[in-house]
Amino acid sequence: MSGGNFSALSGLTSRVAEKLREASGLYVLVTHYDADGLASASIIARLLMKLDRDFVIRVVDQLDELSLQSLPRGDFYVFTDLGSSSIESIAKMGFTPAIVLDHHEPLRGQVKVEDTWEVNPHLVGINGGREISASGLAYLVAKHLNLVDHDMAYLAVTGAVGDRQDSAPNGLVGPNKLIVEEAMSKGWISSSSGLRLYGVPRYPLVKSLMYTVDPLLPGLTYDEAACQRFLEVTGIPAKKADGSPMTYGDLRPEEKSRLATALIKHLLAKGINPQAVDSLFGFTYEFLFEAESSPLRYAHEYAQLLNACGRLKRHGVGLAIGLGDRERALSQAEAISLEYRRRLAQYLSLIRNDPSYIRLLNNIQVLKLSGLVDDRVLGAVSSIVLSSYMCDVSRPLVSLTTSSHGRIKVSVRVHESLSRRGVDIGPLVKEAAEKVGGSGGGHAVAAGAIIPEEGCDVFLKLLDETMGLRLARGG
Ligand code: C5P
Repeated sequence: MSGGNFSALSGLTSRVAEKLREASGLYVLVTHYDADGLASASIIARLLMKLDRDFVIRVVDQLDELSLQSLPRGDFYVFTDLGSSSIESIAKMGFTPAIVLDHHEPLRGQVKVEDTWEVNPHLVGINGGREISASGLAYLVAKHLNLVDHDMAYLAVTGAVGDRQDSAPNGLVGPNKLIVEEAMSKGWISSSSGLRLYGVPRYPLVKSLMYTVDPLLPGLTYDEAACQRFLEVTGIPAKKADGSPMTYGDLRPEEKSRLATALIKHLLAKGINPQAVDSLFGFTYEFLFEAESSPLRYAHEYAQLLNACGRLKRHGVGLAIGLGDRERALSQAEAISLEYRRRLAQYLSLIRNDPSYIRLLNNIQVLKLSGLVDDRVLGAVSSIVLSSYMCDVSRPLVSLTTSSHGRIKVSVRVHESLSRRGVDIGPLVKEAAEKVGGSGGGHAVAAGAIIPEEGCDVFLKLLDETMGLRLARGG
């Protein structure tokens, strides 16, 4: 990231910060349900509390006409983690004055619409997929007003980690890194590198192995007995001398490297590509002002909690945590997170044991989960099914479930080996969805759509055909 780009980004954030400060009356915050959406809205809400303003928050699945129609009216609107592709609709439907803090690639360049001010890193040459998320943008807005605190820094880092922006070898990069460095210099955050298993370093090792889904550990994820055997064979006791479970934090350095080596061997033997194996190692960001025993102490766990709350439609609990509740909401979130993992395990075992869930078409495969999997969980299930080789990885996996208002939620995942052949699924999904009266989009390996139920068969046929044409053309 060049300094010039960052100063251009600061120019954009300072302009919206001024607009936010100048406004008055009721603020309406609109955000996406994922970890970055909940974290970014929490930062803006904290900022508004410091400015002594009134606000309401709405959490939506996407910003389409239906969700726009359902928004409450206020005096000033703030859209976080969405909005760049809907600026014209936002203004047309009268949700102005408004600011938009979005990091998703806009459909086209900046759209100039009266009374709306947009911050999107892509507009100033910063990669919004890797270098800053909506939470980072919200943090920069607060920073311009000299109102940042450690909680906001934690949320900024958590949002970025929730969007997997920490997957570079050195962890967070670009403006995200500047935010971390600033927080480190204030003694708010520390970072260390090591194994990126779930719940490391606090959780029992068996659970850390079992619940790691990014990357998925084939043969271990969601299989407790297999994880116990794996530790046994690696010569690492699952329990300590006092009978309490062994955690990663309890291991001696020599045991940590033995575990790492055993995992690498295990994954390579399962045919996982070395890049995915690499992603097992990385940075952990520790929030020094959170209690040592709290799941909010580590960025990845904080992000997982928010993610689980959002996906199980308990986003209110996630927001309460973002706003500072460390009691009731936190214990609720821990229960939600457990329930989320339990459900994922249940869906995956159903799919694994019943091949009829997946239907092969010519060039795609369809995983029909209507009535079984909730629309917000579909993407996660889709990702795991493909990355754990529970389906044919040479074709895109198109998962379907019922959504609200007689619509179908579609989640498409493409294996890396197929995307390396030049297949960019996002535009194909967008085109097929729009042809049947829905909307959609995405990128090379992940795309999604919302389509009317009656258009589902045609949508699948169109996607199957365009995929065939794309493959025949060599990508
Ligand atoms: O919902 P899911 O996780 O499957 O979405 C995958 C990707 O597709 C996301 O990056 C999202 O931005 C994009 N998407 C979209 N339009 C939708 C749904 C998803 O552009 N209606």
